[in-house]
Parts: sequence; C-alpha cells; structure tokens
Amino acid sequence: VSDEVGASVVARLRAAGCVFAEDEARLLVEAAPDAVALDALVSRRSHGAPLEHILGWAEFRGLRVRVDEGVFVPRRRTEFLADLAIAEGAAISGVRAPTVLDLCCGAGALAAAVESEVPKARVFAADLDGAAVACARRNLRDADHAFEGDLFDAIPADLQGGLDVIVVNAPYVPTGEIRHMPPEARDFEARIALDGGTDGLDLHRRIAAEADGWLVDGGLVVIETSDDQADRTAALFTEQGFDARIETDPDRDATAVTARTTRRR
Ligand SMILES: C[S@@+](CC[C@H](N)C(=O)[O-])C[C@H]1O[C@@H](n2cnc3c(N)ncnc32)[C@H](O)[C@@H]1O
Repeated sequence: VSDEVGASVVARLRAAGCVFAEDEARLLVEAAPDAVALDALVSRRSHGAPLEHILGWAEFRGLRVRVDEGVFVPRRRTEFLADLAIAEGAAISGVRAPTVLDLCCGAGALAAAVESEVPKARVFAADLDGAAVACARRNLRDADHAFEGDLFDAIPADLQGGLDVIVVNAPYVPTGEIRHMPPEARDFEARIALDGGTDGLDLHRRIAAEADGWLVDGGLVVIETSDDQADRTAALFTEQGFDARIETDPDRDATAVTARTTRRR
C-alpha cells in the first residue's frame, strides 16, 4: 500500500471521528487483500461498525479473540475479571486442576484468557446467543466445551457442584440507559448482550440465586458490575449466603464483585 493510500485511509477515518485513526488504518490495510476491499472496510468503519467486527478479532490480554458481527466486543475493563479468575485458578492449580466456567461468555474472551494463563484449568463457556457460542467454540481449546442456552440450563448436569470459579460478565445496563450508549454498542451489538432489565440487575439476581449449587465448597463467583451498581450486586450474593466483596481497578475503570460460597455440604 502506498503512502498516499495509507494517508487517505487515515484522513477518512479521522473525518469519521476515529480517535486512533493511524492505528486503525494500519490494521485495516493489513486486513484488506486489495484496494477495493480496503475501500469497503474503511467505509464500514466510517459508518460506525466496531473495528473488531470488521477485522473479525479483538485483542484481549494479548490474545486475538475471534469476534463475529453482532457479538459483544470484549472490553479492556473486563481484563480485570480475568485477573481475578486467573489468580483464583492459579492458586488452585498448586493443588489440583481447577474447573472454570465463563458464563454469558460472548466470544469467550475470558475463557480463552483463563485457558492461556492457567494451563491446568478445565474451562467451559456458555451463552444464550448462538452467534456468540459459535465464536466461543473457535476461541476455546475444545469446541465441545462451549454450550448454548439460558444461564445454567446450558451446563451439563455432571458439572453440578464441581465448578471452582464462575467468571461472568453478564449484561448489566439498565434498559432505559441503552439509548445513551455509544452507537458502536447500541447499533452493532446484540440487545441481549447489553440489556440487564429495569435496574440492570436481572441477570445478577438470577445468577446469585442459582450459582451456589454449581460450585464446589469454597467456590468463587467473579462478576463484573458498575461502580453505581456494585453495592446492589454484592447484596444479591450476600442475601444468598455468599461472602461477597467489591473489587475495583481504577486503571481499567473496572468494578467486580467476588462472592465465595460459605456453606458446607
Ligand atoms: C456484556 S456481554 C459479555 C460477553 C463476554 N462475557 C465478554 O465479556 O466479552 C453479555 C453476554 O451475555 C449473554 N446473555 C444474555 N442473556 C443471557 C442468558 N440468559 N443466558 C446466557 N447468556 C446470556 C449475551 O448473549 C452476551 O454474549
């Protein structure tokens, strides 16, 4: 690609409001087999499609995670959930192979990160959206470890009481706030990937009520939430008998709740 073409791509992206126009131009030029294809990719980006959907992958903790159109693009803030799940998995790995479930997995970025950074772990993933599960099947080591269905309905019964960690970034945007989200999310990601119901906590409520039976004694849920909702997410787990804590990572603007089972069977 000539300097002239590269410069014109940067100019078009900048005019469309892309903040990282140079970086994006380089990636689009790399991805396009010829000038006609490049023009089409730049045009899609200029009309607001997320860069990751155009490229077909997103970077997550240094991994290239396959993301198809319509599927939630893994966010950098969610790398904090991976930190917490990986730390727990690594601690258990000293004793035995941990079993980890990425619930509401989307493309399966969290599952892929745990597989890559906790090599001993047995990792599973599940999502309601078939397009997301299709991505997760390609991003996981073992395609048979990605399941489609509503929350825990998707999970094989033989994993009941056997999960060490459930890591989950479920939708938590209150329905009324979706219209204030950036168009990249609002217009290009599936509504079920974003909508958490009236107070944003519909999924958190159901997960808090159902998680215990799937976990080993002392098992851990690691769930993403927002700063505003963290107290309520934590309370939902406390009400179900978990020892729940709020964790934050200001660098990534990330908030999570960790909830550990306290009952003994
Ligand atoms: C915010 S996205 C997060 C995706 C992924 N965990 C990530 O961080 O990139 C939420 C995901 O939850 C899935 N989802 C929504 N409702 C669900 C349900 N009832 N059961 C399972 N998955 C659900 C959506 O399809 C979407 O992929």
